[in-house]
Amino acid sequence: MAFFEVIHVADQQEAAIIVQEKLEKDLQADTLHVLGLATGSTMIPIYKRLAESSLDFSEVTAFNLDEYIGLEPTNINSYAYFMQEHLFGHKPFKETNIPNGKALDLEAECARYENQLNEHPLDIQFLGVGENGHIAFNEPGTSFDSVTHVANLTDSTLGVNSQYFGDKEEIPNTAFTMGIASIMKAKKIILLAFGEKKRPAIEALLGDTITKEWPITILKKHPHVTIITDIK
Ligand code: GLP
Repeated sequence: MAFFEVIHVADQQEAAIIVQEKLEKDLQADTLHVLGLATGSTMIPIYKRLAESSLDFSEVTAFNLDEYIGLEPTNINSYAYFMQEHLFGHKPFKETNIPNGKALDLEAECARYENQLNEHPLDIQFLGVGENGHIAFNEPGTSFDSVTHVANLTDSTLGVNSQYFGDKEEIPNTAFTMGIASIMKAKKIILLAFGEKKRPAIEALLGDTITKEWPITILKKHPHVTIITDIK
């Protein structure tokens, strides 16, 4: 029987407490060796809580979902920088992995990342969701069989995410992203979604249809999903 749990919370702080407890349990049970991480504003209070906690990730290998193509890890808009600022700079991990935004051979970088993932099966993968239902950077229409690839970002995603970019810098319109099949291989998925803008995506996930037009709906086929949300 598949495990599909929806946990309603009042706010992101309550969500962060639940996440911390779940990770603590798996660390104690020695079942958390590889952790898939996400970026975005959804994750900031979660990482703050983890950074301030006594949880020990020094034996955990981390993999991030995605990275903008063309950005150096020192660029404040890169996901590598985001992770350093919000989590890795505060908590040591055994190893951290993020696609290399400056890789010259894009296909080779996708293959390298997917190989790394295959060698380190994800125990838990965190996910946020885009307003259009994207997970990582798997935009509507992406094949459910996709592995790590170069994604062309939609106007919706560029519009939403560009608010985080200073006006001097243009948001890249391509990114490396784990594919939907790469994400679905994780043993457990924890999806976080807060605020009314995410309601259509969560309603699609809780509805009856699985469709490529709402990539998030594929999670209905995953054997172990926890959704933590303030959307009722
Ligand atoms: C980006 C990331 C996604 C993330 C989404 C939501 O597009 N690639 O992994 O889920 O943003 O971001 P936010 O948490 O800021 O709403």
